[in-house]
Amino acid sequence: MKRTLVTSALPYANGPIHIGHLAGAYLPADIYTRYKRLKGEDVIHICGTDEHGVAITIAAEKEGVTPRELADRYYEIIKKGFEGLGIIFDNFSRTSKPVHHRVSREFFLRIYEKGYIERKDTEQFYCPKCKRFLPDRYVIGTCPYCGNPSARGDQCEACGRWLEPVQLINPRCAICGSIPELRKTFHYYFKLGMLEERLRSWLEEKKDWKANVRNTALSWVKEGLQDRAITRDLEWGVKVPLEEAEGKVLYVWFDAPIGYISSTIEWAEMKGDPDLWKKYWLDPETYLVHFIGKDNIVFHAIVWPAMLMAHGDFVLPSQIPANEFLNLMGDKISTSRGWALWVHELLEEFPPDYIRFGIASILPETKDADFDLREFRVRVNSELADNIGNFVNRTLSFIKNYMRDRIPHRREFGPQEKELLSKIEKTADEIAGYLESFQMRKALRAVLDLSTLGNQYFDGKKPWATRKNDEEETARTLYTCTLLVKSLSVLMEPFLPFSAEKIRNMLGIEEKLSWEDAKSTEIPSGAPLGELKILYRKLEESRIEDMIQGLIRKARGKAPEGEKGTEEVMEETKKVSIDEFRKLDIRIGKIVEAEKVEGTKKLLKLRVDMGEKTITLVAGIAEYYRPEEIIGFEIPVIYNLEPAKIRGIESQGMLLAAVEDGKVVLLSPREEVKPGTRVS
Ligand code: 2FM
Ligand code: ZN
Repeated sequence: MKRTLVTSALPYANGPIHIGHLAGAYLPADIYTRYKRLKGEDVIHICGTDEHGVAITIAAEKEGVTPRELADRYYEIIKKGFEGLGIIFDNFSRTSKPVHHRVSREFFLRIYEKGYIERKDTEQFYCPKCKRFLPDRYVIGTCPYCGNPSARGDQCEACGRWLEPVQLINPRCAICGSIPELRKTFHYYFKLGMLEERLRSWLEEKKDWKANVRNTALSWVKEGLQDRAITRDLEWGVKVPLEEAEGKVLYVWFDAPIGYISSTIEWAEMKGDPDLWKKYWLDPETYLVHFIGKDNIVFHAIVWPAMLMAHGDFVLPSQIPANEFLNLMGDKISTSRGWALWVHELLEEFPPDYIRFGIASILPETKDADFDLREFRVRVNSELADNIGNFVNRTLSFIKNYMRDRIPHRREFGPQEKELLSKIEKTADEIAGYLESFQMRKALRAVLDLSTLGNQYFDGKKPWATRKNDEEETARTLYTCTLLVKSLSVLMEPFLPFSAEKIRNMLGIEEKLSWEDAKSTEIPSGAPLGELKILYRKLEESRIEDMIQGLIRKARGKAPEGEKGTEEVMEETKKVSIDEFRKLDIRIGKIVEAEKVEGTKKLLKLRVDMGEKTITLVAGIAEYYRPEEIIGFEIPVIYNLEPAKIRGIESQGMLLAAVEDGKVVLLSPREEVKPGTRVS
């Protein structure tokens, strides 16, 4: 039997998980693993938090806590978020655990002894003001490849390249902004060049990989692979297992992927079968699949396979289905700008299947995708509620109301039934094919289309009419519909596991169903239904609009990375000092242009004359004012607010208005004043 080892990128324990993370790795990985489980295949899903490296130490320093405290906190939050969403891992470990340190050190020593690691004298940035060495992200500067001015010392977010801090143009200390100086030190280098040829031919063979992954990796290998430092002068991390390397730890991208192995080892130990991990990692028959976001391609498709090749014992990745990025409401997700939807917050708003569905239907499989809350609502209402929910509920309510609450007995199938049943069978195979080839969106579409067919069949057969004079025909219809409800509960389970279970409970099915059950034409005839429940409730427009406003407010209140957002600060202190108030530069501006922001109901784009210049504002007033009626209005504007991108438009300030029971009323000076006049 095929054996599959699925991994999802180990999330850094420096913050919670947002929808971008979900779309990149965790949701597709869970969909894939759930499908494999339904097929009855041998599959495990392995993950854990990535707790080392400067992503953790910088965040800990900013919060004034130890790296351990930070990682402890976020490990729990991240784990709880995954649980809430029904994302199942066979093991969710942590790279700070002793088992991981042991396995990482052994890995290092093995390839060191095989000659793949070399000690080299080198120069490293040192910040004279902070009085410390600056590894990785402690240095920022311009990317030498793409010119991105805020590249980090370990990787450029814009082009995805793996960087060394010394490659950056105009380097600066990320903590204090000073220009760092170079000091002598030594580090251990992974001799990637020794594996260049092997990597190239291995990648060449991966013709079934996603084009973005294979092409990106191959093009970087073809540019030539340099030796890379895999140690850092840091306190926090896996200690380098050599006496001469006192004070040095492994580079986080060296130890993190080893976490896939150590987490599997921990899983086997916890299961009381300590050797069980070996069949996954040592047997070449294993199909190893790494789910990642595209920013992790270089590490998973080049560095990690090279590490595995150097080591020699372990299987190499079979597939790396990296996803592209997910944007939010037309703008890049940014934690520092507060432009993100967090899993733990979403779970307070929506049932988990709504979130899974909303993301699964737009997964960025071939290109970047956009999560738009309004489109999300439309899709939930039309596809979940009006399509699947409607089909399941009308079928089961009919049985409850008109068939004594018992699943009808099987009758001879007519041509329509035969056609529908063969469609179910075909679709189940089609969905399997899509899932095997990581096309989750198409698979989900096929599930929805099947439900649409169910609704059409129900409409066409008109059981509400036939029940009056043709009991036989009515029973045939409802038996067939119930079969499809059961099939849907199987086929949708990878995407919508909570609803799938609810449906099975309503059908009174207690045993676990398998993928093959989606195709079977048997159901427990005569058995009573379980308690019927509404599967999906529609989402109200006002709720979504409130969320959008909250998101905009949050983004506005968010100060540059690491500092508290103004809203948070205000909440903490409640009262502000006069000095704080004076920081706000409020001026009167005159509206000179106004237009609706396309695709929105609430937003107007305004051009406002501020005397010295004209600025753009995006304001949520479209429901209360028509664009043409407010031209010439004078309004107070917070003039020195951090600009925020709203629906792709940069809003360069914020107008002040009175809000009475949710209704917005514009304010103006009692007498006309010059545009730009200060308010104090
Ligand atoms: O980008 C990230 O969030 C990394 N923590 C992913 C690590 S994946 C693996 F190699 F551990
Ligand atoms: Zn770059």
